[in-house]
Amino acid sequence: MNQDELKKNVAIAAIDYVETGTIIGVGTGSTANYFIDELAKIKSKIDGTVASSVATAERLKGHGIRVLELNVVDDISVYVDGADESNKYLHLIKGGGGALTREKIIAAASDKFVCIADESKLVDILGEFPLPVEVIPMARSYVARELVKLGGQPVYREGFTTDNGNIILDVKNMQIMDPVEVEQKINNIVGVVTNGLFAARPADVLLLGTKEGIKTLT
Ligand code: A5P
Repeated sequence: MNQDELKKNVAIAAIDYVETGTIIGVGTGSTANYFIDELAKIKSKIDGTVASSVATAERLKGHGIRVLELNVVDDISVYVDGADESNKYLHLIKGGGGALTREKIIAAASDKFVCIADESKLVDILGEFPLPVEVIPMARSYVARELVKLGGQPVYREGFTTDNGNIILDVKNMQIMDPVEVEQKINNIVGVVTNGLFAARPADVLLLGTKEGIKTLT
């Protein structure tokens, strides 16, 4: 079974968490795209979706799935999204696709966060994958210097603008021993919109696609 098949299987498994007559938060990335394709098969059972990126909204609409603005929605029963890394406590690194801020907002606003990933994403210590940080453009150099003080090696993501009009610094060399603390410290740098650590609000369920089948971590 290749990585795409593992992603597809885990996306199918996530459909079990979709409750009839509710609003579903939908993530961004290749695994989330498989979930969207599965959600399309049961679209008449849900009230609508909230999308974590322009790309996801387009894909949902392409399937004829209703997309709502978060501001008009009272309750999101479940948020389903991928990750770039997860540890066993379901602390995540996200933002490889640059959608981290909207993803974090929807995760915060959802009753349950179901993370879907292939088994390669489970790691002992977060930080092998460069940590994405969304930054207000004028603060780029200042924030980069502050990230160096925290032990990181920030790299400007060339030619990329987020859906919110900002830039991304990908921070290499971070051995993240205390994800909650690092998330908070980076968010406290003026000019940072948010960073890709999802630790203060981790996933509630991690569905891992493995060659032996789906593993569920809670
Ligand atoms: C998007 O910004 C990310 O947070 C994605 O959720 C993450 O990069 C996982 O993407 P894949 O499912 O494509 O691996």
